[in-house]
Amino acid sequence: MFVNSTEGKNTYILEERDCTEKLQKKYETVMCLGNGYLGMRSAFCEEIPEQTRLTLIAGLYDKQPREEEELIPLPDVTSLSIVAEGEKISPLHKNSSEYSRSLNVRNGLLTYQYRYSPKDKDGSLWVKHRRFASMAQKHLVMLETDIVSDGDFQLELISSVNARITVNGTQHTFEEERTVLDNDLLWYGGRAVVAGTQFRVGSRMKIYVNGAERKGIQRYSTERRIVSSTARIRLSKGDELKIVRYATYYTANDTDWTGNDEDIVEITDSICQKDFEKLLYESEREWEKLWQNCDISIESDDATENLKIRLAMYHMIIMCPWHDSKVSIAAKGLTGMGYAGHVFWDCEIFNLPFFSYTQPLAARNLCTYRYHTLDGARRKARQYGYAGAMYPWESASISGDEQCPKFKNYSPDNTPRRVTCGDIEQHVVCDVAYGVYSYGQITEDREFMKKYGFEILFETAAFWLSRLEYNEQKDRYEIRQITGPDEYKEYVDNDVFTNYMVAWNLKTALNEIDILASEDTQAYNTLDKRLGLAELANAIGQKLPKLYLPSINDDGLVPQNDTYLTLKQIDLTKYKKSCINRLIYRDYSLKEIGDLMVSKQADLIQLFALMPNLFPSDIVKKNFDFYEDKCIHDSSLSLSAFATVAARLGEIEIAHGFFKGALDTDFGESSILCNEGIHAANCGGIWQTVVFGFAGIGVLEGNLIIEPHLPSEWRNISIRLNWRGCELLISLDKKSVTVESLNGKEIFVFISGKEICVNGKATVNY
Ligand code: BGC
Repeated sequence: MFVNSTEGKNTYILEERDCTEKLQKKYETVMCLGNGYLGMRSAFCEEIPEQTRLTLIAGLYDKQPREEEELIPLPDVTSLSIVAEGEKISPLHKNSSEYSRSLNVRNGLLTYQYRYSPKDKDGSLWVKHRRFASMAQKHLVMLETDIVSDGDFQLELISSVNARITVNGTQHTFEEERTVLDNDLLWYGGRAVVAGTQFRVGSRMKIYVNGAERKGIQRYSTERRIVSSTARIRLSKGDELKIVRYATYYTANDTDWTGNDEDIVEITDSICQKDFEKLLYESEREWEKLWQNCDISIESDDATENLKIRLAMYHMIIMCPWHDSKVSIAAKGLTGMGYAGHVFWDCEIFNLPFFSYTQPLAARNLCTYRYHTLDGARRKARQYGYAGAMYPWESASISGDEQCPKFKNYSPDNTPRRVTCGDIEQHVVCDVAYGVYSYGQITEDREFMKKYGFEILFETAAFWLSRLEYNEQKDRYEIRQITGPDEYKEYVDNDVFTNYMVAWNLKTALNEIDILASEDTQAYNTLDKRLGLAELANAIGQKLPKLYLPSINDDGLVPQNDTYLTLKQIDLTKYKKSCINRLIYRDYSLKEIGDLMVSKQADLIQLFALMPNLFPSDIVKKNFDFYEDKCIHDSSLSLSAFATVAARLGEIEIAHGFFKGALDTDFGESSILCNEGIHAANCGGIWQTVVFGFAGIGVLEGNLIIEPHLPSEWRNISIRLNWRGCELLISLDKKSVTVESLNGKEIFVFISGKEICVNGKATVNY
C-alpha cells in the first residue's frame, strides 16, 4: 500500500505497509538512498527473492570490448542474515507480521520493521532497520538494526561485503584485496576490468546488547569475492540488541583518493567513533540546507500530491553530483542499471532547470560536465564529417564518446534491431547548448559562460552550420534524415523541434559573439583564436535567415516534420488506454510505426514547453489538441511536457490529469515501470509542471514572470527559487501572489503582466 504515513499530514514520508515480492523492485527504486556520490537501492538486509541489491558510484564506468560504457555495481554491504533458532528470518517469512517500510525524504532515512513470531515457540522478535547514505560524508553509508526480544532466542548474524555481482553476466571488476582488518573491518579492494579504476570498500559491524558493546565475538570467513563476519548471540526476554554497521566506499576517481589504503582505514576508524544518531544528525543538517533552497509546499485535499512532488525532488537531489563536475545525471540516476548509467538530453532539458533555479552550484557542475566532454563531441562530429561539437546521444565518462548501442535485440521479423539514435537523434546537441545557456541566464554566471559555456554554444552552432543542407529548389536550408524527440519517427526531414532549436542555437550564438566582442575583449580573443568567431558569425549570418522553420498551415497546424501530416491514421484508443509499456510494439514494428500518425512522446509540444511564446496561444491550443490525440506517451518524458503546456494554456483540469499521470509513472501505487530505476527526466518534468506550468513562472525578455494557473484542488502553494542570486519565496493562492526576497536583494517581477519591485515582500492580486 502506498500511503502517506501520518494520514495526510506529513508529506515528507513515504510508507509501504504490505510486503510483497511483486513490488520489491519498485520500492527498492522509489526508496533508493543516495547523496549524489553514491546510490544504493533499498533492498532488504535479509535475503528475499526478487530483490536487487545495488550500489552505484557516479561516474564509475567500465567498458568491455564490444560493449558500451556502463556503471559498475560496487560490492554490496547491505546484507545482514538474521538466523533465529536456525531459521533465516525476513519481512516476507510466513511468521512475520506488522511490516512497514518508510522513506523520509527530508533526511534520506530509510526505516523498515516487522515482528517475527515463530509458531512453535513462545515470544517474538521485533526487528527494526534504519539506513542512510550520508549527505555530510559522501563515502559513508550507515546501517543500523535493532532487535527487541520478548522470548529466549539464539541468534546468528552474518554481515558481509559481497562482490559477487554481475550485470547480466558481465563481471566488471577484478579483485585486488579481500581481508579483515583491525577492529572487525571487512575490507575489499578491486579495480574495473578494463578502465582499471581502483575502489575500496570497508564495512565494520558493532554489536551492542542492552547498550553494552560486545567485542571480540565476530568470526570471519571468506570465499571467492566475499568476506563476512558472523556473530552468535543469545537473547533473553526483554533484551535489546543493536547492530551498527559503518560502510565506506572510495574510488580512484575521487578527488580525495590518495591511493593509500591506510588513509581510508584511518578515516573509517574516525567515523566509527561516532554513533548512528550523531552521524545521522550531521547528514540531516546537510539535507536541511538542500530542502531550504528548493522545497515546494502545497495545501490541497490530496496530500499525496505534495509527497510525490517531494519524492521527485528527493530523487533529483540524490542523483546530483554535488561533489564533482566530471559526472552528470544518468537517465535512471544512480537507482538502477537501466540505460547503463548513460546521460541523455534528459539531463539538460528536464533536470538541469531544477538545479539552475534552486541549487546553482550543482547546476554549474552539470554544465561543466558537458564542457569536459567537448572533445568527445568534437571527435564525433569529425567522425560523421561535420564541424564543431556533436554531443553524443548517450554520454557516460568524460571521454564524451557516443555510448548508444548500435543494435538492440531482434525485431519481430528476426532481423537485428538497429538503434539509430546515436547517428541521427541529434537534437541533443542543441539541447545541451540550450540547457547550459539557460543556466547562465538564470544564475547570471557570466564567469562560467566565458570560461566554459560560450565554447559549448559556439561549437554546437558550428556543428549545425555544417549539418544544414541547402535545398536549391526552395532556396532554404533544411535538416534532413533526422530523429526528433518523437522516436517513433526516424529519418524524417525537418523535425519541428530540432529545426526551431537549431535556429535558437544559431541565433543565440550570433548574439553572444556580438555581446562578447564589446563586453570582454580578452575572453572574445581567446575564444576567437580557438574557434574563429568572426567566421562563425559570418556563416551564421548567411545561413540562419534561410533556415527552414515549419510554420502554420491552412488548418492552423504546424507540421511535426515534412511527412507527418500525410501519414496513415489508425485508432489509437487501445494504446492510449493501456498501462502496458509500449503495447504498440506487439502489433507493429518500428518501421511500420514510422508510417503511422502516432507519436511516442511530445515533439512540437516539447518545443512549446521550452518556448511558450513561439506561436499565438490559439495555435498552441489547436496543435496541442491535434498532437495529443496522436501521442501514446510511450516515453516518461511526455506527460509533463503536455501538462506544462496545458497549464499555461489555462486548460487546468487537462493539465492536472497529465500531471497526475507523471506523478504516478514512478510514484503511483501499482506502477512498476521503475523497477530498473527511477525516471530521472520525469522527476524534473514534475518539478517543471508545478513551477513553469501551474505557478506559471518563466522568463520573458530577461525578466521573471509569474502567471498562475493553479489546479482547483490546490488552495495554495509556496515555492523556493533562486533567480540571479536572489533567494525567493513565492507563494500563490487562487487570488494573489506573494513574492519575498529572503536575502535582501531587490528584484523586478511581472505578475500577470503587472510589474512589481520586490524589496522585502510584495503581494499582488491577479
Ligand atoms: C526517450 C528519450 C529519452 C530516453 C532516456 C527514451 O525512451 O524516447 O527521449 O531520452 O528514453 O530517458
